[in-house]
Amino acid sequence: MEGSCGKAYLTFTVNFLLKRFFIEKNSFFYAVDSNSSLIDECNKINLLLKYDNIDFVKDRTIQFVPKKEVDIVIGLHACDSATDEIIAKGIKCNAKFIIVVPCCQNQIRTELGEDHPLKFLTEFGLLRYRFSNMLTDGLRSQFLQYYGYTVELKEIVPKKVTPKNLIIIARRKRRKKENPLNKFKVLNEMFDLQPKILDYFPEYF
Ligand SMILES: C[S@@+](CC[C@H](N)C(=O)[O-])C[C@H]1O[C@@H](n2cnc3c(N)ncnc32)[C@H](O)[C@@H]1O
Repeated sequence: MEGSCGKAYLTFTVNFLLKRFFIEKNSFFYAVDSNSSLIDECNKINLLLKYDNIDFVKDRTIQFVPKKEVDIVIGLHACDSATDEIIAKGIKCNAKFIIVVPCCQNQIRTELGEDHPLKFLTEFGLLRYRFSNMLTDGLRSQFLQYYGYTVELKEIVPKKVTPKNLIIIARRKRRKKENPLNKFKVLNEMFDLQPKILDYFPEYF
């Protein structure tokens, strides 16, 4: 499943590669976007390409309920907290892999107050911007770890191609720890934030 698929470059490409190199795999895709005109466009392209294994769905990622089991949830440059919806949906689907390349990280930046342990760093606009980006993705990664995933962060392309080049790769562990150390909570309390992802996990509190 791809959340915030836009024109679905990613879904079409991954589907093409799977069909070409893993012919025996019977893959099926959901590609979800909240913009109906983009979904219409994707359906037109899909007709030309004659793929019968992709469902394009107009919906918010968090609201979409897949009928089939979902193994992998992906998202490329989903704006701001739309990336949190993708991660949340992946956890709720118990996906084996959740892979996202975040876009802009505005929510945490606007919420970051003036009184926190790194306030002498974030008083500078540019550092506040860069640090908020890191903090957002650090919190997301710790949240995934808390929910039983092993997380790796990498760069997908050189920075000159796009500065939004960080990829979060989360793989579900076979065995979840009973009481994992909640590093998300520790990190979050340091900055007294209300990360968007918590909206989708009322049971977390
Ligand atoms: C920057 S575009 C990225 C599109 C595509 N993934 C790509 O890389 O070309 C972000 C997309 O997210 C969609 N979007 C924003 N919020 C969403 C949400 N909550 N649920 C689903 N789609 C959303 C927008 O309609 C837009 O198509």
